[in-house]
Amino acid sequence: MDKLKENKKILYIGIVVLILIVVGIVGIKFYKDYQYKQTYEYKLVEHGYTLEEAKKLLDFYQKPEQLENLLSMEKNSYILELVQEKYYIHSNLSRYLEYASNNKEASTKDVIAIVNVNADYKYYEHDIPTDTSLGILINVNKYYTLPEDFEPLEISDISIRYSYEGNRISSEANDAYVSMWNAAQKSGLTLIVNSSYRDFKEQEDVYNSKKASLGQKEADKIAARPGHSEHQTGLSIDVFEMSNQSTATFKDSEAYTWLKDNAYLYGFIERYPEGKEYLTGYSAEAWHWRYVGEEVAKIIHQENITFDEYYAYYIENQA
Ligand code: DAL
Ligand code: ZN
Repeated sequence: MDKLKENKKILYIGIVVLILIVVGIVGIKFYKDYQYKQTYEYKLVEHGYTLEEAKKLLDFYQKPEQLENLLSMEKNSYILELVQEKYYIHSNLSRYLEYASNNKEASTKDVIAIVNVNADYKYYEHDIPTDTSLGILINVNKYYTLPEDFEPLEISDISIRYSYEGNRISSEANDAYVSMWNAAQKSGLTLIVNSSYRDFKEQEDVYNSKKASLGQKEADKIAARPGHSEHQTGLSIDVFEMSNQSTATFKDSEAYTWLKDNAYLYGFIERYPEGKEYLTGYSAEAWHWRYVGEEVAKIIHQENITFDEYYAYYIENQA
């Protein structure tokens, strides 16, 4: 009898233990499910992305605010193409999507570049006061503006040995230009600057005279409106070579090839290259070189990007 009781007790204990195990397993499973449902992987899949897409997105986005932003937008697999581009900037995501949907023929690379440089906005309809504290990295273009009274720091005359009379640029750029001039001279080329720092008023005169002779549309391709010219920064030079001082043919000159290969070593970059008109907003200007310092010039040269692209990705995006 005692034995029977004992067996029953063991059986009950066994049943209770079994129940506890089952409840435990089910509980753990529920808990794990609950935990998984809190993950962004689950939320992205629920939002319509495949598991593979969700995993790729999670490789790029780690910050909760970025993921919440993704979840607040309609599911769009094109985002996966965008995030894999080198110059992708998350805060521009909705503009990339809008630009791409309105410009189906544009490559993903171009969508990124165009939006990064603000070229999804109309010229002169999206003015941004530029950050003048950036020194040699100030960006001025059809979007970023300089105040009318902006004056470059440490402006100095470029010696008439290297330029026509009356040219001035910032001292640091001036010294770099002299070094570049000497190097070009060693290669048998005599560089000559024919325009450099122009204040707001002088730029206004340049622009107005182009506008009067060519009309606004054509003038806008070759001259900046006042407050929008890099010449006002005191960091730009229009440079030619003694034997070729024509804007029409300078691009075919030996001096231009030399500048393309060497200017970056002295901190100068070609500001309006051929083929990049849709980003810079200007017709190519083989003669317009901008001082940005050696370090930045090297990156721009190596990555074959415009200063506008550099500024968006490496300066503004990192700020
Ligand atoms: N030619 C350049 C774009 C300027 O006027 O600043
Ligand atoms: Zn120029």
